[in-house]
Amino acid sequence: ARPAAPVTPVADAVSALKEEIAHCRRCPLHCAATQAVPGEGPADAAIMLVGEQPGDAEDLAGRPFVGPAGQLLDRALAEAGLDRDRLYLTNAVKHFKYEPRGKRRIHQKPNAGEVQSCKWWLNREIALVRPRLIVALGATAAGALSGRAVSVTKERGPMSFGEAQGFVTVHPSFLLRLPDESAREREYRNFVSDLGRVRKE
Ligand code: URA
Repeated sequence: ARPAAPVTPVADAVSALKEEIAHCRRCPLHCAATQAVPGEGPADAAIMLVGEQPGDAEDLAGRPFVGPAGQLLDRALAEAGLDRDRLYLTNAVKHFKYEPRGKRRIHQKPNAGEVQSCKWWLNREIALVRPRLIVALGATAAGALSGRAVSVTKERGPMSFGEAQGFVTVHPSFLLRLPDESAREREYRNFVSDLGRVRKE
């Protein structure tokens, strides 16, 4: 038999937390979702990235940021010199919220109550991983982390989240939604530049 991979007590605790998240019934979103999507990454990651909620692809895969927004994020991280495998990636809300439309499932923004219910898990992920820096991708994550409404346009950049040092930037889906190619390219460059700052923080 192969020897078990070495695990630290914190890595064990992160695995146990994932198992708890899998059984979450704290709000009704679990009813329609395929499964909960917990965070993933090394338990000793220095940087945690927080998105909004899993999308269609993440709901099916059970992993965060594997769909179109995740692919864009991967490209931007690589360009900024950040190694995805060394980051802890998670979401403010752990279940996919959507509206069925024919065969499609249309993303719906989580409401304040759903974000608040799920903050329980985000707090526990933060307490275990204890990242040096927490990056909020978009307003939902920034709102969950700060406990107030955040305007990404006005407050982009460093922000403290309670005791933790934080940084607010756009969500990669925002870039995907921009209809104009030149705006998309400009905003993508700004996003890569933010991630470059994150790497140096
Ligand atoms: N958008 C998010 O906010 N999180 C994911 O995991 C995927 C898309």
